[in-house]
Amino acid sequence: MREMKSVGVVGAGTMGNGIAHVFARAGFGVVLCDVEQRFLDRGMATIRTNLEREAAKGKLTREQAEAALGRISGSVERDELAGCDFVVEAATERFDLKAAIFRDLDRILAKDVVLASNTSSISITKLAAQTKRPEQVIGMHFFNPVPVMALVEVVRGLATSQEVFETVRSLAERLGKTPVEVNDAAGFVSNRVLMPLLNEAMFAVMEGVATAEAVDQVFKLGMAHPMGPLTLADFIGLDVCLDIMRVLQEGLGDPKYRPCPLLIKMVDAGWLGRKSGRGFYQY
Ligand code: CAA
Repeated sequence: MREMKSVGVVGAGTMGNGIAHVFARAGFGVVLCDVEQRFLDRGMATIRTNLEREAAKGKLTREQAEAALGRISGSVERDELAGCDFVVEAATERFDLKAAIFRDLDRILAKDVVLASNTSSISITKLAAQTKRPEQVIGMHFFNPVPVMALVEVVRGLATSQEVFETVRSLAERLGKTPVEVNDAAGFVSNRVLMPLLNEAMFAVMEGVATAEAVDQVFKLGMAHPMGPLTLADFIGLDVCLDIMRVLQEGLGDPKYRPCPLLIKMVDAGWLGRKSGRGFYQY
């Protein structure tokens, strides 16, 4: 397997900029790629803020934070990923979009480069089938906020080779994360279990069982969750939650994965949670 020096990250949104942050912090050169300069600017500004926060807390020195930032370059040209030794895709959670990116990456990157997806629920096997290197395609699923959360779900597609799996597992460890091995199935483990919880909390609110505040208090105080399920849904993004519920519904076929009608209505209204200023709470 080639030596990993330079890592490409496709998508500068919440997950992409967090992934670029942790690779740069671990000493890798990073090419952060998005389709418009303003998305890159926003992503870089977030990385700067989060690195400064870590420096202020003494987790890094100011010099280390500056050096990490200096290792990240932005690009709106996907072809500029050509020199990378490893790529993580963290684009919007839509199969058609990701499939097109994987076809592109397969054309652009050297033949021995591993292509990982941060998808939270889309089939790795199906993404791998978009390429001529399915044994080198794998899921590397990070959690928000990426600089803080310890887990990486490492997801094997049907064709993923053992060598590629081991490479990505040790890469996650180099980032200071704990990799957990999961096979490819809709929602993997994390979202197959988490999203129905969030969805059920929404049903409880919709049916008037309790207010959003009360549901959240039950989980914070009764189960020691750091955030209640509705605060967490707002934090993840209600559009993302809905997309994942639909993947579970389609992929697993059980009616228990039916998205809550209140969730659908809120997404239709543009109430997407924290990022839009309104979800179950106002921000
Ligand atoms: N970058 C760097 N550091 C950050 C950060 C960021 N973006 N956000 C928070 N931090 C740091 C803070 O500086 C703080 O550091 P110290 O412990 O050294 O003080 C620490 O994280 C805790 O932050 P706060 O004190 O500000 O706030 P908190 O104690 O309320 O914790 C939280 C915030 C870490 C987000 C916590 O509420 C939490 O763990 N929430 C649950 C998050 C979760 O479940 N994430 C998974 C979502 S699912 C997903 O991502 C996958 C998917 O597929 C949908």
